[in-house]
Amino acid sequence: MSQDRPSSFYFKGVRFDNAVNLKALELVDSFEVRDDDVFISSYIKSGTTWTQQIVSLVCAEGDISEASKVLLQVRTPWLESLQASGGRLGVGEGVPRPILLKSAPSPRLMSTHLPYHLLPQQVRDGKGKIIYCARNVKDVVVSWHNMRRMMQHMPCGTWEENFQDFITPELAFYGFWWDVVPEYWRHKDDGNLLFIKFEDLKRDLRGHVVKIANFLGKTLSDQRIDEVVANCTFSAMKENPATNYSRNPKLQKIFGKAEGSGLEFVRKGT
Ligand code: A3P
Repeated sequence: MSQDRPSSFYFKGVRFDNAVNLKALELVDSFEVRDDDVFISSYIKSGTTWTQQIVSLVCAEGDISEASKVLLQVRTPWLESLQASGGRLGVGEGVPRPILLKSAPSPRLMSTHLPYHLLPQQVRDGKGKIIYCARNVKDVVVSWHNMRRMMQHMPCGTWEENFQDFITPELAFYGFWWDVVPEYWRHKDDGNLLFIKFEDLKRDLRGHVVKIANFLGKTLSDQRIDEVVANCTFSAMKENPATNYSRNPKLQKIFGKAEGSGLEFVRKGT
């Protein structure tokens, strides 16, 4: 075993890496939800970025290609983190997002990797909407290992170590996949939750853009749907530094290890 264990902490029995902030986590349960809030939720490496891109473009006003150039974390900020520099919310770097989001204009799009039972109480009571994306667990663990090879803030670990962490309930990051995904699945028929799958997005991207638009109560013209789809394909998202973080010079501090390694955030997608 390598000595290089990633820096991590536990909140309510769930292990998190340092991309997550304890103060932000403590504020999530009582976070005041609005009727038009949208929470994009997923287990790590399960199609979060893809879902964020689809949802934010479905909800975008004006030119889709312009909207697509804005860094995804700005369009759909992470609920359980601190505000990074350059965010749309205008206030201070280093402030927990649940505080900043209080004054964000509606409609608010937010992202999270939290297990269902750690989401804001009001969204669990049916207020706002959740779009949950799940992916085949074998692809998740491979993608997670490759992600850890790129991240500056956590030591990588060998494939064996990362795999063992993943399949050990108390060591798995963001909760144990076999607890987290079934918990969301049990809510798939709730009126405010749309459960989608990575593999279905691959099979029928256009159909899912329409499904997501319908769920959010948006009516898009055929041309508008085509524009969303064109910006959500694997190749478009790989070329776009606002969605392929490892190609974004502003995110060098996080994905610095990717440079020259051949690794990319939007990596293989299969
Ligand atoms: P791989 O590492 O298997 O390639 P997340 O956004 O939850 O971190 O998930 C990242 C995974 O989604 C990566 O998987 C990435 O390549 C894949 N992905 C992102 N955008 C995609 C797209 N438009 N089409 C297919 N896969 C995509």
